[in-house]
Amino acid sequence: MLKISPSILSADFAFLGRDIKKIEKEADYIHFDVMDGVFVPNISIGIPVLKAVKKITNLPLDVHLMIEDPDKYVDEFCNAGADILAVHYEACTHLNRTVNRIKENESKAFVVLNPHTPVEFLTDIIPYVDGVLLMSVNPGFGGQKLIDNIYSRIKRLADLRDNSGYDFDISVDGGVNVENASRLAEAGANILVAGSAVFKSDNPEDTIRKLKRSI
Ligand code: DX5
Ligand code: ZN
Repeated sequence: MLKISPSILSADFAFLGRDIKKIEKEADYIHFDVMDGVFVPNISIGIPVLKAVKKITNLPLDVHLMIEDPDKYVDEFCNAGADILAVHYEACTHLNRTVNRIKENESKAFVVLNPHTPVEFLTDIIPYVDGVLLMSVNPGFGGQKLIDNIYSRIKRLADLRDNSGYDFDISVDGGVNVENASRLAEAGANILVAGSAVFKSDNPEDTIRKLKRSI
């Protein structure tokens, strides 16, 4: 089953509670983008906002850390309510340790790859992860166009998974919309993150239904 994780980066932060209610019936997760202005050229939201969101929804929170040295903050984000904690391969020197730390906190550990990082670099971490999040844009901003090397990247990652004998989610983030969702799902993605496609549409719930119907 294809799952949809709407990114609240494209919601109206002045009315965040209201915008979350707009998607709650159809969404499978809420995608929460944390940016530090160092790892990516933008600053977004962090722990206090995550705690506030946790209080008003039962949807699992899918937290994407675009920060330097995420290891430092794993415990805090897990305690604040991250059901999934996704850390960038490019930001973790001791990725195995970081992944284990997330799981010790009883959150799901996802590893994120930027569009240029070969999926094959994950070979030795695969046995330990719950999911892989493939960036289909350079992270930092919502509303960008999907980079089309993503389709072959998903396929290569799905092959790697099938040959490894381990199971994990394959999620895609950036430029996902109703037009490209089916091709992403056919390539092997089972979670699609979508920000502007959902929150900038006239009917966010209906857009989520359309994204899901694409397979
Ligand atoms: C980008 C973020 C994405 C972003 C996606 O750096 O990680 O989650 O919110 O937004 P759209 O779907 O508009 O590309
Ligand atoms: Zn994201």
